[in-house]
Amino acid sequence: MNNLWGDSLSSFWSAWIIVITLGTIAISTWLLFANRRTDKTPDAEGNVETTGHAADEIEEYDNPLPKWWFQLFVATVIFSIGYLILYPGLGNFAGVLGWSQESQWEEEVERAEERFTPIFAQYQEVPIPELAKNQEAMQVAERIYQNNCAVCHGSNAQGGYGFPNLTDDDWLYGGEPENILTSLNNGRNGLMPSWQQLGENNIENLTQYVLALSDLEHDEARAEQGESTFMSVCAACHTPQGTGNTSLGAPDLTNDTWLYLAPGQTVADSIRQTLRNGRNGHMPAQAAYIGEERVHLVAAYVYSLRFDD
Ligand code: HEC
Ligand code: HEC
Repeated sequence: MNNLWGDSLSSFWSAWIIVITLGTIAISTWLLFANRRTDKTPDAEGNVETTGHAADEIEEYDNPLPKWWFQLFVATVIFSIGYLILYPGLGNFAGVLGWSQESQWEEEVERAEERFTPIFAQYQEVPIPELAKNQEAMQVAERIYQNNCAVCHGSNAQGGYGFPNLTDDDWLYGGEPENILTSLNNGRNGLMPSWQQLGENNIENLTQYVLALSDLEHDEARAEQGESTFMSVCAACHTPQGTGNTSLGAPDLTNDTWLYLAPGQTVADSIRQTLRNGRNGHMPAQAAYIGEERVHLVAAYVYSLRFDD
């Protein structure tokens, strides 16, 4: 900021704050000096002055403040005036040093950019599987992950209700470097339509069929009835075997891994809910926020998670 007077407050409120701040300092200073007494010598009759307060016949003497105490007050006043000249504090007056939280923050960001840009550019040249094995790069990448992805995918990357686990081998959109890059650069929108119109009976049959696909406890007769509906309605996206389709983000329904299993919910209830209401998971495109260089690095981090146990 090269203008000493910023413009964040209207000039009336700015003036108001200046008057109150300086007024408070002036009144405190005046109080300090006006009430200052230096003599503590008794008068002709040998009485010392008292405040007039007394309790149990003990009187309160009106002795002057100790000198060091008084001087501390004076130093405080001088400090506050000095501070208000140098730093922002008086309304819109920015202080002669031109310091501000924003400029301090901007400087830090600029310094970080200067330091990291060449490093990121260098990493960008390295293919993802190789970069994923570079420990130093993965430390930087983990920071990017924690700052930008952990809110949704969890600090351990194991996901949660509606947010895919990035550490397992079950991929909605594929786990190869180019799949991960596409997920990050463009974002993803999973669209599972609602099947309310099939009616509750069909929904129950389909639910039992999907449970059977994962070898979970199910009603045999209903599952058998559900099979033909699955082949005509669901197979187009989830494949006839139910193993899913990464180009659509249609999950594998055969591996007992559920994106939409709420804590405490049974798998059957989760499937019923999916079929009744549909699902629409949304992953925002990350390149717009963090740039393609950081995307490349954090994609390698996601890729590296398969090496840990
Ligand atoms: C606002 C929440 C949100 C943020 C932030 C977010 N994601 Fe996602 N991400 C999702 C959701 C939701 C999906 C699943 C989309 C779907 O259901 O189709 C997803 C999908 C993915 C996938 C595809 C997973 C698969 O199984 O194919 C990857 C990889 C991924 N995210 C990585 C990241 C990384 C890395 C970051 C940080 C740079 C990030 N995400 C930030 C919500 C988020
Ligand atoms: C148009 C393609 C499409 C069709 C048709 C479709 N699905 Fe889906 N299904 C998806 C997608 C995409 C998702 C993931 C949604 C998301 O990521 O938010 C999904 C999710 C699901 C889930 C949730 C899985 C989990 O991990 O929680 C179940 C269960 C499911 N589908 C079953 C079915 C059944 C049964 C049918 C037939 C009635 C069906 N789907 C038809 C695309 C489809």
